Amino acid sequence: MAGIRSPIAVVVGHVDVGKTLLLDKIRGTAVAYREPGMITQHIGMSFVPWGAVERFAGPLVDRLRLRGRIWIPGFLFIDTPGHAAFSNLRKRGGSVADVAVLVVDITSGLEEQGLESLNLIRARGVPFVIAANKLDRIYGWQSEENRPFLFAVERQEWHAVAQLEEQIGRLIDQLSRLGIEADRYDRVRDFATQVPIVPTSAVTGEGVADLLLVLAGVSQRFVSKERLTVRDGPARGVVMEVKEERGLGTVADVIIYDGVLRRGDTVVTAGLQGPITAKVKMLIVPKPLDEMRDPEDRYKYVDEVRAAVGVRIVGEGLEGVVPGAPIVAVEGSLEEAVKAVGEEIAAVKIESDKEGVVAKADTFGTLESMVLFLRQSNIPVRRADVGPPSHKDVVEAALSRRRDPAYGAILAFNVRVPPEVEKEAQSSGVKIVRGEILYKVVDEYLRWANELKA
Ligand code: GTP
Ligand code: MG
Repeated sequence: MAGIRSPIAVVVGHVDVGKTLLLDKIRGTAVAYREPGMITQHIGMSFVPWGAVERFAGPLVDRLRLRGRIWIPGFLFIDTPGHAAFSNLRKRGGSVADVAVLVVDITSGLEEQGLESLNLIRARGVPFVIAANKLDRIYGWQSEENRPFLFAVERQEWHAVAQLEEQIGRLIDQLSRLGIEADRYDRVRDFATQVPIVPTSAVTGEGVADLLLVLAGVSQRFVSKERLTVRDGPARGVVMEVKEERGLGTVADVIIYDGVLRRGDTVVTAGLQGPITAKVKMLIVPKPLDEMRDPEDRYKYVDEVRAAVGVRIVGEGLEGVVPGAPIVAVEGSLEEAVKAVGEEIAAVKIESDKEGVVAKADTFGTLESMVLFLRQSNIPVRRADVGPPSHKDVVEAALSRRRDPAYGAILAFNVRVPPEVEKEAQSSGVKIVRGEILYKVVDEYLRWANELKA
């Protein structure tokens, strides 16, 4: 049966801003406390039904006049351990994420990886809201468990409100320098041009109701019903992570955003060399919290999953699959599925004889983000591919260099550079810029190119 699914809402931001704890508060669980070192280990996906939000946010629903006006069934939240994960949520022409929550620490503003997330959100055209978290850290703030922000702010002493306004003002300034108009959500006049900022505390739960309601409003206004309509056909999704699991072999964690995936299905996905065909042996999903007896007993096996959902696939032939690759279940012609996946992957890569830099990244998702970002920065790309820099990359960069020295460079994102390639690059006068933050790699390249010209 076709129907409207919940929007997929990805939660992004700098390390330690409170993404996991915020989601945890939303679910009313203690998942964050079970994670080693409190760092997100897996792509966690959790469904929050609208009914629960309405019960939780009660009086605020009325104050914002939203009662009876929400038609999304809820949210599917995806927690991410970093911006690379957001990149891998790719699909042709955009992101699997329908909306994003950019979490920042209200006391420190936008930090390095927050900025990176913001760049990626904008490059992929995903509507977003900002959670200004750690509200309870505002000096003099009087907290009350789970109170909506709008009610809480009315009860504060003037100096706490002044502090809050100062921090939010700083964040607004910071965003405005990046060309983004933003304001405290209750002061936003036009959601089409201004990004709402919702002060939250993942510790006290204050502002969480506001965040959910604002996110619902933004989702309904900026995500089309067509995009949220699921079909009954074969599954379509994206690979987030591939790893070896003891006793299971190679497993792939994927997000299915359309259709149905069944045990026994043949799927087509992709690796470095092109399309890969695999067979689904098992489907594993996290257990609902009430069925979980102890923290070890976290998963269950199912026969089928329906979009939108996060699922772990145990399969034959998944070795070598690269994150960010599309995954489609085959119904009918295998050849056609292989061709479609092949074309999609080819569209992410670049192979040309034009002058421009060489781009290398660890996954299809990060590569696509990188190419998008380079285009926006008006840097031409001669060649773009997944994997560490190789002999061929140095040769291509050296060819580009002959026409314009500024293009004799390899930009390597999230990949290691083999020592022999490093040496070869040096002797051919090819510059290798490496890093884990995309905009910094690009900035460093531009600085180098400008110095050449000077
Ligand atoms: P990564 O997954 O590592 O990127 O971090 P994260 O963004 O998921 O942050 P996490 O939820 O793990 O929280 C990091 C730390 O900040 C923990 O010690 C939390 O207790 C603390 N923290 C998170 N939210 C709040 C908040 O609203 N107020 C206060 N005071 N502390 C918070
Ligand atoms: Mg986390």
